[in-house]
Amino acid sequence: MGIAQSTIPKGSGLMPSLQSEERLAELGRHAAGVAHGLANLLTNISLKAQILELQSSDPNASEHARGIRYYIEEAREILERIHRFANPEYAPLPNRVNILETLTSVWKEVQFRHLMSGDSAVKFECSLDCDEEPLVLANRSELKEIIANLIDNSLRAMPDGGRLSARISRRNGDVQVEIADTGHGIPARMIDSIFEPFVSTRSRAGSGLGLTVCRDVILNHGGSIELSSNPGSGTRVTFRLPAGD
Ligand SMILES: Nc1ncnc2c1ncn2[C@@H]1O[C@H](COP(=O)(O)OP(=O)(O)OP(=O)(O)O)[C@@H](O)[C@H]1O
Ligand SMILES: [Mg+2]
Repeated sequence: MGIAQSTIPKGSGLMPSLQSEERLAELGRHAAGVAHGLANLLTNISLKAQILELQSSDPNASEHARGIRYYIEEAREILERIHRFANPEYAPLPNRVNILETLTSVWKEVQFRHLMSGDSAVKFECSLDCDEEPLVLANRSELKEIIANLIDNSLRAMPDGGRLSARISRRNGDVQVEIADTGHGIPARMIDSIFEPFVSTRSRAGSGLGLTVCRDVILNHGGSIELSSNPGSGTRVTFRLPAGD
């Protein structure tokens, strides 16, 4: 039983192959236009939700309409990142973010989507192995996306249910987060290229960009990420980000 491992040390860039680089460049050219179109649509959806919130006499419906507007704002932040990226002076705006709070709130959102799509329940445990508040210096929206991508991958690897565990600890000046699942794991032949763009086993549904985004965002924040997988019994992703205290 072997454990396949892929580590990207701090500061190193795992370069995508030339073909992937060209595809990424092409994707980048389309991204700004797509972001613009989506931002307009979000404005329309937000207006409809606002009308529903104001006009509905059902408090439940108003509550859901408020929820829709909240998620629209989150989606706007993600689109905003594309605009900032298009600007050559782009640099992520770091805040002090409590990673435990981020993890638990992302878990609730992703779990809700997972259960709504009819998949089996997954047990989630999160442990905090340090006395200090787990603050990291990161852009909140990017951090949420990393965690959502990792949890999403784990849930998809456990269609019949399983266990997802997260452990937060301190390592020198970094906060370390380990996310482990008991899913089907990753075949050894895929491990070396797992962080490269467009590597996916989800032929139609997945873009193969989730782990690439995780790697790029973490490296941009001066952190590191490592993935190890034991085919047939589970996968563990460990990432570190500079502590924000
Ligand atoms: N926790 C995991 N367990 C099993 N396989 C995984 C896990 N995480 C990633 N993988 C494998 O790595 C591939 C690449 O993951 P990645 O998140 O980059 O892309 P994706 O999930 O296929 O698509 P996207 O995230 O863009 O929707 C997945 O298709 C899957 O085969
Ligand atoms: Mg994914």
